[in-house]
Amino acid sequence: MTVIELDSVHVLYGSSLALDIEHLEIGAGERVFVLGHSGSGKTTLARLIKGRLRPSSGTVRVLGRDPASARDRRRRQRRVAMIDQEYFLVPRLTAVENVLQGALGRVPPWMSFFGIYPRTEWIEAESVLAEVELDGLGHRRVETLSGGQKQRTAIARALMQQADIILADEPVSALDPELAEDALELLVACVARREVTLLVDLHQPELARRYATRFLGLAQGRLVYDGSPEGFTDEIAELVYRGRPSDEATGSDLASPRPPLDVQETSHVDVETGLATANPRSDIRLVGD
Ligand SMILES: Nc1ncnc2c1ncn2[C@@H]1O[C@H](COP(=O)(O)OP(=O)(O)OP(=O)(O)O)[C@@H](O)[C@H]1O
Ligand SMILES: [Mg+2]
Repeated sequence: MTVIELDSVHVLYGSSLALDIEHLEIGAGERVFVLGHSGSGKTTLARLIKGRLRPSSGTVRVLGRDPASARDRRRRQRRVAMIDQEYFLVPRLTAVENVLQGALGRVPPWMSFFGIYPRTEWIEAESVLAEVELDGLGHRRVETLSGGQKQRTAIARALMQQADIILADEPVSALDPELAEDALELLVACVARREVTLLVDLHQPELARRYATRFLGLAQGRLVYDGSPEGFTDEIAELVYRGRPSDEATGSDLASPRPPLDVQETSHVDVETGLATANPRSDIRLVGD
């Protein structure tokens, strides 16, 4: 079953083209790792799927619906959890209170406004904290936790959401390599228990290889690789990270570059700020050009 589908998607920031995806389909239960140089469009793709951003043109369907549409937004947003690079935890709240925020979508707004949660949610939050090996630390304010513990609190909050899709945007970039590996392993184990779809942005292909069922390679906003982790050869890595193929870089998994765009709508709307940016069509250029 397809849970994420993008067709003819373009995202422009001002006159810069940040994302240009002809077609992308992700099925339920896949563990997709998105690789690409800084600025290649990884976060932009995650924000589109989360519904935080509308494409300038094209369609995004997540669990069969437009994730950015205002209708049912609160209920639908709950089905897609996002672990941001910065975690966005509330430092003065305890770990368990932060985790409980994952339940916001299913708790009446008046209750969550006063920080009141049903007992069942408290029990669930404690159990998720134990799953990420933070049992006994639920009462600690997040600002007193170590980097690795904060990261696991962020994972726990995402699990608490009981989402169908978890997006993780460079979830381990703030950790040293050993901790990063542990955290990624923990995330993948928790996700596997729930059979949710996972999409992770990561800079380290070697780490991703251990946990991915599929790799996407982005270069200057375009999908230049969509295939198995095994097929992600050094030549393809060169294309993804340096934007140019070596002589041998060919193969069925390597998408061919596409001709210049014909973008119909030329503005992007940031769903969170509601700000729209006009983009004169003649100004379109590739990011990094
Ligand atoms: N709100 C914004 N306004 C203008 N340009 C933006 C905005 N967000 C992203 N961009 C630009 O779009 C391009 C893609 O950015 P994005 O954050 O998606 O890249 P990324 O692959 O996640 O990079 P990194 O690995 O550094 O996190 C970059 O050139 C970036 O500068
Ligand atoms: Mg990013």
